[in-house]
Amino acid sequence: MNSTVTLNNGVEMPLLGLGVYAPQHNNEVQQAVEDALELGCRLIDTASAYGNEREVGDAILASGVARNELFITTKVWNDDQGYDKTLRAFDRSLDKLQLDVVDLYLIHWPVREHRAETWRALETIYETGRTRAIGVCNYYQPHLDELVKTATVTPAVNQFEFSPYCYLPDELDYCRAKGIQPEGYAPLVRGLKQNDPKLVRIAEKYGKSTYQVLVRWSMQHGVVTIPKSVKKERIRANFDVFDFEIDAADFAEMNTFFDDTRIAWNPMEFL
Ligand SMILES: NC(=O)c1ccc[n+]([C@@H]2O[C@H](COP(=O)([O-])OP(=O)(O)OC[C@H]3O[C@@H](n4cnc5c(N)ncnc54)[C@H](OP(=O)(O)O)[C@@H]3O)[C@@H](O)[C@H]2O)c1
Repeated sequence: MNSTVTLNNGVEMPLLGLGVYAPQHNNEVQQAVEDALELGCRLIDTASAYGNEREVGDAILASGVARNELFITTKVWNDDQGYDKTLRAFDRSLDKLQLDVVDLYLIHWPVREHRAETWRALETIYETGRTRAIGVCNYYQPHLDELVKTATVTPAVNQFEFSPYCYLPDELDYCRAKGIQPEGYAPLVRGLKQNDPKLVRIAEKYGKSTYQVLVRWSMQHGVVTIPKSVKKERIRANFDVFDFEIDAADFAEMNTFFDDTRIAWNPMEFL
């Protein structure tokens, strides 16, 4: 659970964390974050759009875990993009999270007409020290090529959909070539592939669930991964992936599972 990667500015980021996106009833996320922190998880991935930053903040306070042990990510939503609006959105996020500093602030989607100015706002926030790193989500090569033309800070992280069924090695390689840490979302494909016979065969071989094999596959790619669950036993199981390794043949086979299954928009719709 304590495996980390080092970002391009020297900040350490856990390789495995908890995602908190989904429609939730009251306090569901707060309980899930408290459970995850109790289980040793140190990375929490939220966003203003998820509407649960306050619950995440409450859980952090209730947990008693030292702030410097945690890695908290949040994101600016599409409607808040643009220079001034992003600065204000960031203040609101900090207020709800009840934090002075976040560890990573991300652009949620590359909204064409605002993304350059939004990135400039993230650079300003980074300069003030109120986020330890800045990055983007859902940026493919054309978005990154455009960003570097005006950016003064290289994104530390690019978070995009990442599972064997949405595996785009060129995007991964491109991030790595630019010194950007890839982070994968929807690693469990929201359960859509839990009965895929190809995946079941591999999971049975290691005595693990298909969910655990998917988490492990992302980690073996060196991609930060943030499986979401609000159920303590599932959170525990999703994090119980440090006692086995997918062997080279199975790993290579999983790399061929691509069928363009996505749970979110394709970033290429944002050109
Ligand atoms: N940047 C972006 O644009 C973006 C987009 C999407 C997601 N994200 C981030 O990535 C995180 C993960 O993605 P995601 O939430 O979309 O999907 P996911 O992690 O692939 O799947 C979550 C779903 O799987 C279920 N689940 C989890 N563990 C399970 C287990 N062991 N057995 C059976 N079912 C299980 C969860 O239900 P229960 O909760 O009921 O267990 C939930 O319905 C999000 O929470 C969010 O933080 C970012």
